[in-house]
Amino acid sequence: MSTRTLIRGGLVVTAAEETHADVLIEDGRIAALAASGTAAAGAWTAERVVDATDKYVIPGGVDAHTHMEFPFGGTFSSDTFETGTRAAAWGGTTTIVDFAVQSKGKALRAGLDAWHAKADGNCAIDYAFHMIVSDVNEATLKQMDGLIEEGVSSFKLFMAYPGVFYSDDGQILRAMQRAGENGGLIMMHAENGIAIDVLVEQALARGQTDPRYHGEVRKALLEAEATHRAIRLAQVAGAPLYVVHVSAREAVAELMRARDEGLPVFGETCPQYLFLSTDNLAEPDFEGAKYVCSTPLRPQEHQAALWRGLRTNDLQVVSTDHCPFCFSGQKELGRGDFSKIPNGMPGVEHRMDLLHQAVVDGHISRRRWIEIACATPARMFGLYPKKGTIAPGADADVVIYDPHAEQTLSAATHHMNVDYSAYEGKRLTGRVETVLSRGEPVITAREFTGRAGHGAYTARGTCQYLD
Ligand code: URP
Ligand code: ZN
Ligand code: ZN
Repeated sequence: MSTRTLIRGGLVVTAAEETHADVLIEDGRIAALAASGTAAAGAWTAERVVDATDKYVIPGGVDAHTHMEFPFGGTFSSDTFETGTRAAAWGGTTTIVDFAVQSKGKALRAGLDAWHAKADGNCAIDYAFHMIVSDVNEATLKQMDGLIEEGVSSFKLFMAYPGVFYSDDGQILRAMQRAGENGGLIMMHAENGIAIDVLVEQALARGQTDPRYHGEVRKALLEAEATHRAIRLAQVAGAPLYVVHVSAREAVAELMRARDEGLPVFGETCPQYLFLSTDNLAEPDFEGAKYVCSTPLRPQEHQAALWRGLRTNDLQVVSTDHCPFCFSGQKELGRGDFSKIPNGMPGVEHRMDLLHQAVVDGHISRRRWIEIACATPARMFGLYPKKGTIAPGADADVVIYDPHAEQTLSAATHHMNVDYSAYEGKRLTGRVETVLSRGEPVITAREFTGRAGHGAYTARGTCQYLD
């Protein structure tokens, strides 16, 4: 028989409401909620009782965009599924959706099997997969249908990275047409990679080799142009669209216009675009390489448009795009040529905390915090209400969050397998205290009490905004 757990006295915050309630957990699921101090809650008994007085009780975070052991630029992102999911748990995330990669010339199945092999038995928290389609052709289009049946219902395409992950407009249109028929969701990396490659070549020819030129050649207008093109291709195909890692205000404007037209178009941004800027990319002594990711960091003025988009629901999700590369030996591959710096930044551990800071700073409300970090990603990717909320029947993925604790982010104290922090020295109010994954304590009063292999593969349904 599984342990019954009772969480007493906290403020339960979901996307829908905030209530002072006790939460009863049984068999890995939420069994019941009752207002704190009432006779109903007082009658409950449990083997494990967690005191959440003065704390928030929130759903575990759902990070819908991570890259563990991701191949890029001749190296692999430095977090394994074991280290990356442990770090996620430390930060209050209890589900990740990672990207399996199709190698060119191979079947989708082979890529998915390879990612299952990396994750199986290694994860501290639950996980699911999207599929990166690098080779859209008749065979892979048919294979999309089978993947949806087995719970991989979203497919990332790239308008960037010619010769690697890139798809041309015809391939994109075909994949979207298929998704329009089979219920899949196309996730788009929207940057005009063909034009960017010309600008990269020209910058390098001028001797502009420092990390900051990564940001200069990957122009906001080329993100906006690609976003516009992806939206119109999806419209022609009659398919929904989810644009990943939106960073430019001009791209937000494209999403806003499309949504005003009533199109099923969704947008995701990431903490790095909300809290960091091209000032970081311009840090001297090659330090800017720590902030090289694509889409790139933008000038600070873009942040206001991202926050506004999150408030107005023109952007619906904040994921991390966690794709860490160590400064030493990995980012350094691009010394003297910014185009060889592996693209990606660490962040899976800090999303919930950074977004709580956004609540403290007045950018978003407490419920919107939970909506963009837990409930909406779960709904977007067919995991709700199993994940993303605290309600009877839901998985007991629960975080006890101390909104008053102070912390300072640092590579010396984080748990991600990467030798720097993108937020070194940043002070935050709020910290994760205890984390349950399907009722099991993974973090207990700031101690890791989980284990590799507890995390289970979670098959997903289709996007729940299209029902
Ligand atoms: O720079 C990034 N974002 N690296 C990960 C791959 C991707 O495009 O999401
Ligand atoms: Zn991308
Ligand atoms: Zn990514």
